[in-house]
Amino acid sequence: MRILTQASLQKWTTFGLPAQAEHFASCTSEDEVKEALAWHREHDCALHVLGGGSNVLLAGDLPGLVLQMGIDGVTEVGQTDQGVLVRVGAGVSWHEFVMTALDRGWYGLENLSLIPGSTGAGPMQNIGAYGVELEERFHSLEAVEVATGETHQFAHSDCAFGYRESVFKRALKGRYVITSVTFHLLKTPELRMEYGAIKAALKAAGVTEPTPKAVSDAVIGIRQSKLPDPAVLGNAGSFFKNPIVDQERHLALAKQFPDMPQYPTPGGMKLAAGWLIDQAGWKGHDRGTHGVHDRQALVLVNKGGATGAELLQLAEDVQQDVLKRFGVELEREVNVLPG
Ligand code: EPU
Repeated sequence: MRILTQASLQKWTTFGLPAQAEHFASCTSEDEVKEALAWHREHDCALHVLGGGSNVLLAGDLPGLVLQMGIDGVTEVGQTDQGVLVRVGAGVSWHEFVMTALDRGWYGLENLSLIPGSTGAGPMQNIGAYGVELEERFHSLEAVEVATGETHQFAHSDCAFGYRESVFKRALKGRYVITSVTFHLLKTPELRMEYGAIKAALKAAGVTEPTPKAVSDAVIGIRQSKLPDPAVLGNAGSFFKNPIVDQERHLALAKQFPDMPQYPTPGGMKLAAGWLIDQAGWKGHDRGTHGVHDRQALVLVNKGGATGAELLQLAEDVQQDVLKRFGVELEREVNVLPG
């Protein structure tokens, strides 16, 4: 494993923003991760871990060491009553893993097709789409402790999963590097089609007897129609989380906007950030090098040549306007580095 100095990070994140890592190491095995972490402890510097770089905004150069996760491999490691246990290297592209699982007859992740990023980053924010979250098929993960270089196992109950949340974003933030994730996948499909857009896409495709592959194709079609392909237009998916508001705020807004999308959730009422931003007139907002996507207001885009600081300014302008108009605070979903 080589440690590079002053390495460009532009191609390592899906926003494609210009920034440099003071030091950079690409790790393709657990041993290499441990080696890089030993180097980091010796140099007593900052550490940033990059997976697929699909949920990161680089607001400037990163001091210290950037560890790029490149551990490969999708391996069946056991059987359960309903299916199989599959261990996946943290560096495997999430979508490639979902496709491999489908090919091998392992089901349960169809609705999470085409989510960008790496498998190791998935549990960090409990990725989710179209009514399914990663935690439903999560079994356990292995991670190396930054401070000691020791390997630890985390069971489902250790991870404190929530909506776009886990212990790795909160109490254990920055303390572990995830090296592999194990899933329990199903041998018999249990299709999840409650989400209206999936039903509509299957109908439009003339599917009468849906299969996991048909659901995956429907999800891919929906995502491609709304979300920009990072290879063409730099972006990091949803830039904001969908906000959860208290009853008082919800009732006031629901009265004023009877058509407002709303989803009851344990902590209150979840609103659609995309809808709020769209209503406020930001959809398709253009600042030359960057802007708000014209088909999904929740996505900020780098049209070419933007800086992280410019995108951050746009995000703040959107947040302030939504707060002013609706009294709702939008929280960023994307991680901003350096923090
Ligand atoms: N809406 C608008 N205008 C917009 C965008 C959305 O009016 O510009 C409305 C839609 O019509 C809909 C509601 O807002 O009534 C919700 O929109 P959508 O169904 O597109 O889903 P979302 O809440 O915007 C969430 C996830 C996505 C995930 C989809 C599908 C978050 C922050 N985002 O988006 O995740 O793919 O649901 O389940 O929870 C990501 O995290 O990067 C991501 C793309």
